[in-house]
Amino acid sequence: MQTEGIKYAGSKKAIIPSILEICTKLQVKSAFDGFAGTTRVSQGLYKIGIQVHSNDISDWSYIFGLCYLKNSKPAEFYEPLLEHLNNLPGKSGWFSENYGGMESDEKKIWQIHNTQKLDAIREEIERLRLDEVARAVLLTSLILAMDKVDSSLGHHTSYLKKWAPRSFATMKMVLPKLISVSENKNKVIRGDVFDTVKNISTDLAYFDPPYGSSNEKMPPSRVRYASYYHLWTTIIRNDQPKLVGAAKRRQDVSDVVATSVFEEFRRSESGKFIALEAIEQLIRLTPAPYIVLSYSNQGRATRDNLVELISSYARAFSIVEHNHKSHVMRSMCWTKNWANLEEGTKEYLFVLNKK
Ligand SMILES: C[S@@+](CC[C@H](N)C(=O)[O-])C[C@H]1O[C@@H](n2cnc3c(N)ncnc32)[C@H](O)[C@@H]1O
Repeated sequence: MQTEGIKYAGSKKAIIPSILEICTKLQVKSAFDGFAGTTRVSQGLYKIGIQVHSNDISDWSYIFGLCYLKNSKPAEFYEPLLEHLNNLPGKSGWFSENYGGMESDEKKIWQIHNTQKLDAIREEIERLRLDEVARAVLLTSLILAMDKVDSSLGHHTSYLKKWAPRSFATMKMVLPKLISVSENKNKVIRGDVFDTVKNISTDLAYFDPPYGSSNEKMPPSRVRYASYYHLWTTIIRNDQPKLVGAAKRRQDVSDVVATSVFEEFRRSESGKFIALEAIEQLIRLTPAPYIVLSYSNQGRATRDNLVELISSYARAFSIVEHNHKSHVMRSMCWTKNWANLEEGTKEYLFVLNKK
């Protein structure tokens, strides 16, 4: 199953076939993807004919969702636009000033020749005054192009000391792998899952929440999506936000303002892990008859915690286990001081039929 997406911590690319197999066995016609992220799972579901309601709190997931799940325009509509954007001369603007580095500079996410293209293209996309979906297709293409020439470990909180070889290439926008089907009843929502889940009417809900960390020494800011991918938010909003710190993050993604309850590693006053309580609340609120929950042994809740929780809400349930090497970022950077690496990463899919 071919899907497309940015480099993303916790992307479910590798287990999409299992998720699709579960949905096929259960004869699911519609599914809610509550934490859609890259939208790779949503793309896979849509490709096998399932009507998808894709939801995530982030701006970038909303844009990817519009691109892959709502587009009805043919490639011929986009090709001249992409050619026009790729041929624009670069210019120095806000992105170059803050994120562009010369070859001799250290620790910037992009080389200046690419941020100059970004500055020119981002301005032009707005000037084109396209409809929301067409604009999202171009923004997705722009983000994918910039993701291919970055000089980071895969997130925007620290940049490599020496330029990554790929950062010397010149970014080039290409047409995203659009999905064409005759009837499109998909929905794309940007929202907190607790606000959206109550109103869903799908056969199945798939939940892939952030795992937080299983280590109390690890501050929640280290695993926070809003902070990891702040540059995609800024490219989408094009709002020239106030920046803080060495990585020049948006001020509005700092630890105190934007932490997801699923990323919490602390216990509540009742002594339970906050992240586990959040999963319980989510399962309780979900009206869909089937729920598939992704979780990993690197997360706050353990497999046993989840089995106990799920048994009280499920008429029946099963667990699919996947073993795979820890993703590159974990094994490359300092998080290995905390990660449970000797066991390797295990991904679980808890499939439950609600009582
Ligand atoms: C593990 S990732 C999902 C990855 C996705 N399944 C994929 O394959 O790309 C978790 C996602 O949860 C989103 N998120 C965090 N808290 C949320 C909330 N309260 N409501 C909705 N989405 C949330 C994050 O933006 C992030 O994209």
